[in-house]
Amino acid sequence: MKEQLAKIRVEALAAIQSTDTAASLDAVRVKYLGKKGELTAVLKQTGKLPPEERPVVGQLANEVRSALTEAIAAQNKVLAEAAMNQKLIEETVDVTIPGKKTELGHKHPLSIVIDELTDVFTGMGFEVAEGPEVELADYIFTKLNIEEGHPGREWTDTFYLTEDSSVLLRSQTSPIQIRVMENKKPPIRMVAPGRVFRKDEVDATHSPMFHQIEGMVVDKGITMADLKGTLNEVVKALYGEDAVTRFRPHHFPFTEPSCEVDMQCFECKGKGCAMCKGEGWIEILGAGMIHPKVLEGCGIDTEVYSGWAFGMGLERLAMRRFAIKDLRLIFENDVRFLKQF
Ligand code: PHE
Repeated sequence: MKEQLAKIRVEALAAIQSTDTAASLDAVRVKYLGKKGELTAVLKQTGKLPPEERPVVGQLANEVRSALTEAIAAQNKVLAEAAMNQKLIEETVDVTIPGKKTELGHKHPLSIVIDELTDVFTGMGFEVAEGPEVELADYIFTKLNIEEGHPGREWTDTFYLTEDSSVLLRSQTSPIQIRVMENKKPPIRMVAPGRVFRKDEVDATHSPMFHQIEGMVVDKGITMADLKGTLNEVVKALYGEDAVTRFRPHHFPFTEPSCEVDMQCFECKGKGCAMCKGEGWIEILGAGMIHPKVLEGCGIDTEVYSGWAFGMGLERLAMRRFAIKDLRLIFENDVRFLKQF
């Protein structure tokens, strides 16, 4: 049995040293030290030896076992190191290869204008609201006092989504006024930028999709003077302290009285030029005191509260701000164009 143990030792050590993977090393371990391994088999037979030989053989077997265990651990280390070195060679990075430049984009000119405007308004305590682009005719027209038969409701002007004319792509951001008033008690100060849709042919100043920003204040004792004061401040924030505005009477079904606001042409200072088409003034928005019918339809007591609202087109604002001559450029998203802003 002693010779058997010596033989196992020699063979096993050789086998361990000749392994080149963790898997083959483990196979050797199982072959000699496993439950059915060769060394284990020998150990099981020590019981049959005469009593005086047992301790000697037992000790020898233990020595062989620890020699093999140590050799396996050592070989394990060698193999792990070799594997790591191999990995390092395979994954070598050539730091001299020129890198790929990541192009950093920037805000779209329209987003610049929207962010600037909302900044001015939030600075005055307004909240930013949102509404759906697919909207109910009820919210776009009826609740805004726009009666059946009004030209704004025509199929030729708007994108209806249902045969019964009850759902359409919103043609103005004003329905957001209704959605906010139905969900919030006064005092209300909100602005809502968003996309609107109208059946317009595409040309240098028209697009079937464009952007507006809606604004609204509802509180006790709100008057036209608040509307003028606020909008004048906004125009000054956008165009500088010496910007001049003009409020002209107008008509909207959902405001009474209504007005349009013009800004004195900053190119010619009111004399008339190509920029303002000889007018001296440029129309920038529609506004007015919210019609009592609209307020009451949203459950607001007009004996206590009043309010104003405005709606402003954003493309034209961006076009003036960045001297963009053709509206189509804003939506084509040609990087050569967008890079300039
Ligand atoms: N919604 C109107 C438009 O699209 C603008 C407007 C908004 C007018 C709010 C008055 C009050 O022309």
